[in-house]
Amino acid sequence: MSTQDPHKKDIDSVTGIETTGHEWDGIKELNNPAPRWWLWVFYVSVVFSIGYWLIYPAWPTLSGHTGGNKGWTEYSQLKEDQAEQVLERAGLDTKIDTASLKDIKADPKLYEFARAAGAAAFRTNCTVCHGSGGQGGKGFPNLVDDDWIWGGTLDDIYTTIRYGVRSTSSNTRQSQMPAWGKDGLLKSDEIEAVATYVEELHLPGKKGEQSAVSAQGAKIFADNCTVCHGEKGEGMQTVGAPRLNDNIWLYGGEHATIVESIYNSRAGVMPTWEGRLSDATIKELAIFVHSLGGGVEAGAEPTTAP
Ligand code: HEC
Ligand code: HEC
Repeated sequence: MSTQDPHKKDIDSVTGIETTGHEWDGIKELNNPAPRWWLWVFYVSVVFSIGYWLIYPAWPTLSGHTGGNKGWTEYSQLKEDQAEQVLERAGLDTKIDTASLKDIKADPKLYEFARAAGAAAFRTNCTVCHGSGGQGGKGFPNLVDDDWIWGGTLDDIYTTIRYGVRSTSSNTRQSQMPAWGKDGLLKSDEIEAVATYVEELHLPGKKGEQSAVSAQGAKIFADNCTVCHGEKGEGMQTVGAPRLNDNIWLYGGEHATIVESIYNSRAGVMPTWEGRLSDATIKELAIFVHSLGGGVEAGAEPTTAP
């Protein structure tokens, strides 16, 4: 430490500037005035903060805080923002109420809104059966592919969701495959044969030509099954009969599972959502499901397997 008299000015001999009197190992601190730009920033901040205290909530008081002259709070700001969104949402919601599915599809803003709302409704109502991504599971159809039991146009999907399949609605989609074994319509060996034929349907060049059994199955199929599943097993959406000549299965494509499907019939139930969800929500769900990847345009031919 320096031993000089604290009242005596200490002028630095090199720069001629007064020092603060602080010294470390021979290095002295010059007492330069604050730079001008810094002072200006300081003055401006002082003025700004006074203005800020007047307008916005600032100082804590015993009973709360100073309020500012406009009564602004973050909460009031949030409410204002939310009110705007609610207004916009309500606008879009009523629009969806009155718009047709085609109108919604044609309006990008409305479409995006409907899709997002549909995704949320799907998470709450549909994932238990159809899986979180709509990928389905045994007995619950995959909604992401383009294999549709009841049709993949927006209108088809809307109808399925609204009224369900074999549901309690009087407008439900309805059809029932006979329980060929349980009801004694076909004998066990006939079911074995037709199952073998069905199993081979999606394999190229093996349709009913593989063996005597599948040849017998081909005949049984032609006599009993084509009325719903089509000549080549291509399925029929009007009666909700799944396509059998691709390798996409609702219940499973292993021989034993196919036998079981034919023996008992399955008759899965998709609940009706009419009355449980608003019509707007059902439209939103249809838009969402249709957008998952497999949606087809109205009027398009159903894709047929090779
Ligand atoms: C209790 C289970 C269950 C729930 C919940 C459920 N579904 Fe389904 N869904 C099914 C079953 C089973 C089928 C197949 C019916 C059949 O055999 O034809 C189906 C079929 C469908 C189909 C027709 C698929 C096709 O290939 O044609 C659509 C679309 C669909 N569901 C959408 C939905 C939506 C959207 C929701 C939510 C609002 C929903 N499902 C909730 C069980 C369910
Ligand atoms: C009256 C129409 C109808 C007739 C006739 C019919 N089916 Fe079906 N079939 C359906 C329906 C509808 C389903 C969907 C599941 C259900 O409801 O049981 C189905 C489902 C199946 C399945 C399960 C498919 C999968 O993806 O898991 C197989 C296999 C099948 N049928 C085979 C046959 C065979 C073989 C015959 C002839 C012996 C036949 N069906 C006759 C309507 C029919």
